[in-house]
Amino acid sequence: MNRIGIIGAMDEEVDRLKENMQVEKIEKKAGMEFFAGVLSGKNVVVVRSGIGKVNAGICTQILVDDFQVDGVINTGIAGSLKNEINIGDIVLSEDCIQHDMDATGFGYEPGVIPRMEQSVFKADKTLIDLAQKVNREVNPDISDYVGRVVSGDQFVSDNEKKKFLVSQFQGYCTEMEGAAIAQVCYLNEIPFLIIRAISDKADNSATMDYSEFEAKAIEHTFHLVDGIMKQL
Ligand code: ADE
Repeated sequence: MNRIGIIGAMDEEVDRLKENMQVEKIEKKAGMEFFAGVLSGKNVVVVRSGIGKVNAGICTQILVDDFQVDGVINTGIAGSLKNEINIGDIVLSEDCIQHDMDATGFGYEPGVIPRMEQSVFKADKTLIDLAQKVNREVNPDISDYVGRVVSGDQFVSDNEKKKFLVSQFQGYCTEMEGAAIAQVCYLNEIPFLIIRAISDKADNSATMDYSEFEAKAIEHTFHLVDGIMKQL
């Protein structure tokens, strides 16, 4: 990969990356600032997309069209959908699906995008393997999991909704951008990886946990993304 797009939904998720890169130029488009330069020896474009699937999708397509990135990494936080995945742990996307895509009225399964060949988007195996190796080096105190990232325009803080995401999609974590980024990468035929540190359990205590653990979770993803750039 010659140039990698690194997307975080919120400032907190990309600030450390921006501080640590050599910025060559900053370009603004669609209300987003794209920081192009070098991070740990790799050509990167770091950007805060804003929250949600529309922002994430637009941001990814701009990275492809205007910055010619040939791979995308999304870094951020998520709610855990598995008992064994604890706050602070890392989930690496095996694949991604949109949990709020619903054409069940026409007989489609939940999450299936009508008239598209795929609705489950597979992440790049080389990036997954590298991220797992690097995580064990830079974050030895936490566990990493490779599994399904389930995305939707919804902060999940409800036990019933969580149960649905687990039983219907077998998700490992839930967040609000990954599957949109994945879909844009699929359409443009470029590799991607979603990296998420767990900030809460996507249940009735999610909003409280989120506020307490967000910063620590982001610290883990910074070390991981920086380490991946060094070894890529
Ligand atoms: N990001 C972090 N926690 C989340 C949750 N519970 N639902 C959606 N996005 C999240």
